[in-house]
Amino acid sequence: MPVSAFDHGLLYGDGVFEGIRFQEKGLLLLDEHVQRLYDSARMIQLRIAQNPDEMRRMVIEAVRHCGMENGYVRLVVTRGVGDLGVNPASCGTPTVMILVSTISLYPEKFYEEGLRVHVCQTKKPPLDVLPCNAKTCNYLNNGLAALEFTKEGCQEGLMLTTEGFVSEATADNVFGIQGNALFTPSLDTNCLPGITRAKVMELAKEKGFQVREGKYLPDEFREADEVFLTGTGAGIIAVTTLGGQRIGNGKTGKTTRALRDAYESKCRQWLTFVDAHERKLVR
Ligand SMILES: Cc1ncc(COP(=O)(O)O)c(C=O)c1O
Repeated sequence: MPVSAFDHGLLYGDGVFEGIRFQEKGLLLLDEHVQRLYDSARMIQLRIAQNPDEMRRMVIEAVRHCGMENGYVRLVVTRGVGDLGVNPASCGTPTVMILVSTISLYPEKFYEEGLRVHVCQTKKPPLDVLPCNAKTCNYLNNGLAALEFTKEGCQEGLMLTTEGFVSEATADNVFGIQGNALFTPSLDTNCLPGITRAKVMELAKEKGFQVREGKYLPDEFREADEVFLTGTGAGIIAVTTLGGQRIGNGKTGKTTRALRDAYESKCRQWLTFVDAHERKLVR
């Protein structure tokens, strides 16, 4: 179905979205993604016509009929069609789009070598400027930061708050490891409340790590034993160079590797299989 050029999602980036991974026809952490979609919508006063259960079913149907075993669902809900003015009040029913595509993961060698990560000049806007802690269609800020790290020959970039604290990467959350403790920017740095972030925090606590959330400077990450990123697409991936400086011994560290293995094996428990009759592991 065509999308109108008068849709405010297109004209003004007015909308919310989710990216959901599926493997062997099982959607990873589906309920958490649907929940965050509605949380994001509430934060921008967008009333989605469907209820969360209907949305969940629509996503399942899309994957059931796509003919792919593994891939990525992009679920987008925009403000809908309005006039050319910026005011969302002119918009009618929100537009729902469900795109099923392949997922572009980092090549395997980066899971061994880790990523080169740049510290970007492009800052995260404060919460009273843009609610970046909602997953909105307004990713220009992240896109500009991505142009910066690409120019520097890096694979990702850390974005800082206007006060200079680390918030997150352009499409992933960030963690540091110091001894037996993990640390990660708190949500008041305006980072996205990552679903992988939350699961990794749970997993690390189960494994006996202390987990701290707070405001950290880039130097605190540079001096950490290990640094890694988390996200739906990447899973857990090490950062081995930050702002031109080597982290630890410059290779994926043993704690990052152990957390990644633990996370990847837990993922199987977090799948909603689209064909409930053929599979036992349905939630
Ligand atoms: C800006 C940003 N931060 C963090 C993440 C990681 O979030 P999640 O683990 O829910 O995929 C994403 C990706 O969704 C993102 O776009």
